[in-house]
Amino acid sequence: MTATIRSICCIGAGYVGGPTMAVIADRCPQIQVTVVDLNAERIAAWNDADLSRLPVYEPGLDAVVGRCRGRNLHFSTAVEAAIAAADMVFLSVNTPTKTRGVGAGQASDLRWIEASARQVAACAQNHTIVVEKSTLPVRTAATIQAILGASRDKSFSVLSNPEFLAEGTAIQDLEHPDRVLIGGEDPAAIDALAAIYSQWVPAERILRTNLWSSELSKLTANCFLAERISSINSIAAVCEATGADVQEVARAIGADSRIGAKFLKAGPGFGGSCFQKDVLNLVYLCGHYGLHEVAAYWQRVVDLNAWQQHRIAQLVVQRLFGTVTAKRIAVLGFAFKADTNDTREAPAIRICRDLLEEGAQLAIHDPKVSEAQIAADLGRDGVGSWQRVESPIAAAEGADAVLILTEWQQYAELDWPALAAVMRQPAWLFDARAIADAPRARAAGLQVWRVGRG
Ligand code: UDX
Ligand code: ADP
Repeated sequence: MTATIRSICCIGAGYVGGPTMAVIADRCPQIQVTVVDLNAERIAAWNDADLSRLPVYEPGLDAVVGRCRGRNLHFSTAVEAAIAAADMVFLSVNTPTKTRGVGAGQASDLRWIEASARQVAACAQNHTIVVEKSTLPVRTAATIQAILGASRDKSFSVLSNPEFLAEGTAIQDLEHPDRVLIGGEDPAAIDALAAIYSQWVPAERILRTNLWSSELSKLTANCFLAERISSINSIAAVCEATGADVQEVARAIGADSRIGAKFLKAGPGFGGSCFQKDVLNLVYLCGHYGLHEVAAYWQRVVDLNAWQQHRIAQLVVQRLFGTVTAKRIAVLGFAFKADTNDTREAPAIRICRDLLEEGAQLAIHDPKVSEAQIAADLGRDGVGSWQRVESPIAAAEGADAVLILTEWQQYAELDWPALAAVMRQPAWLFDARAIADAPRARAAGLQVWRVGRG
């Protein structure tokens, strides 16, 4: 018989935990959902009466939270009490790449997963279903099982239920998922989780696998997506060298139904919390199993991504007569993609650092990223300097170049005559997202470089 879940606890109120639990609460009014986090400031922001101040910016999230918060969606720092009250606990904590020790630079740091699993082991009552939500290296569930198994008087079932949402479209992705993946060994636990999703997801989209297939599928999906971006970015460089246009090439190859049209936009390289981390995780896993050729194959996906970012910084310097020392450059966009305030692994970080190293003065605009976040990412050291400004026109004031790094819709609608009028001539537009109205920029007197256009 399928256990009926009445109370869910989610550990980790981040980009994954917050939106995912909001949608579950919205679709399952009969379930009490409590999202807990050690970070009191983050929880306070989730509880802010002003819904525009939620700690995660996602289109549509404010409406969902507004409907459910206080009804059956709660945000709290009382981790232990929430675990004790729950029939099902989601682990949605951060799993960044290790910066030191064994596997540094490749393996995921599992300290937060381990700590939260220990908390569950200590506080759970009765039988508890524990669901891995964070992207994890393959066989992490074994670690979680081992930790939970050590508390003899309690029983647990561990499931892997990876999240495939993309930031910026999280609510849409959660409400209409291509598939929901549930990996596990305990059919009753799998049924209990499937019953939650079946409130709004068609049954044929709920896939059941063993634990390890589920964990590996999540890594593999992200690796394939990342590889596609490195592939199209490599072709962008060939286009620039040969006079082809990567947008035309992408359209032509995307029309082949075996290739498909999505995820073929050349740009400044992929960012975000997942792609690089997950590819490096696979590289580490392959190395561990002695599959060195496979590891090297995937490593190149990350290498090409870094190369693309350095390449863009270098070509800005070259076009500006080989030096940007003390030159003002307007950087438009700092988030790793549009419609998010997230800057983790954002291409802007590496590109800005390269330009700062060359002595540039950067005027950075982003509609959603705060000055404090930019400061955390760039620091204040280095040869050049940066400031955050409130508008694209303020960024362009006195600048030699505008460099577009995030595809915010407002950058497609820039008033080029107005920008050109306040820039220092000769002025450049470097469009790393191919989003600006290049003909208008050219008509306003700017020289234009666009990614992937020869
Ligand atoms: C990704 C996966 O899409 C999602 O399924 C998984 O759960 C988490 O990782 P996310 O990192 O939020 O989601 O964003 P995504 O839209 O995939 O973009 C990742 C990066 O690739 C961004 O920097 C984006 O700008 C870049 N990108 C994406 C391109 O450069 N070109 C494209 O065609 C698509
Ligand atoms: P993601 O993008 O995977 O959601 P985030 O870093 O945005 O990652 O969110 C993870 C959250 O998990 C952070 O807010 C962090 O404070 C929280 N967290 C980590 N470990 C614990 C723990 N043991 N108990 C409660 N919260 C935790």
